[in-house]
Amino acid sequence: MEFYETCSDGFIVAEINRVVKGYIVGFMGSEETGRIFSLAVDPEFQNRKIGSLLLKEMIDVFRKARAGEIILEVRESNTKAERFYERHGFYRIGIAREYYNNGENAKLMKLNIGK
Ligand SMILES: CC(C)(COP(=O)(O)OP(=O)(O)OC[C@H]1O[C@@H](n2cnc3c(N)ncnc32)[C@H](O)[C@@H]1OP(=O)(O)O)[C@@H](O)C(=O)NCCC(=O)NCCS
Repeated sequence: MEFYETCSDGFIVAEINRVVKGYIVGFMGSEETGRIFSLAVDPEFQNRKIGSLLLKEMIDVFRKARAGEIILEVRESNTKAERFYERHGFYRIGIAREYYNNGENAKLMKLNIGK
């Protein structure tokens, strides 16, 4: 709710027959930088481009907000999500050590979207 209240444009859901099957949450981390906080698709509905559609919508929101880049974190073990983001043009820029509660590292990924 905090994300929705502070940046409702960055809170997008994908519905099928009015049931939410996926969502993405993003916000402007600074004037220049869009941040993706969370993205997930119902496992039964993955691999149908719902994730791609949500990500594209989010990128549009950041373009309209005049961001020059988008940054996100992905679990080191989550190779599926890393490949997914790479297919959408993101590349690795570093590691955030022990980023997650269980002590797992995050890979930092970035997409340049220009102005
Ligand atoms: C990552 C995630 C959001 C992707 O969502 P999705 O709806 O499955 O995404 P898409 O369908 O657009 O693409 C996913 C994969 O399916 C493949 N795909 C898409 N359409 C396809 C089709 N018609 N036939 C076969 N494969 C297809 C894509 O090539 C892609 O493969 P790859 O990324 O392994 O190369 C989803 O897997 C998920 O919710 N994962 C769990 C949560 C998570 O990891 N979130 C990210 C944390 S930062």
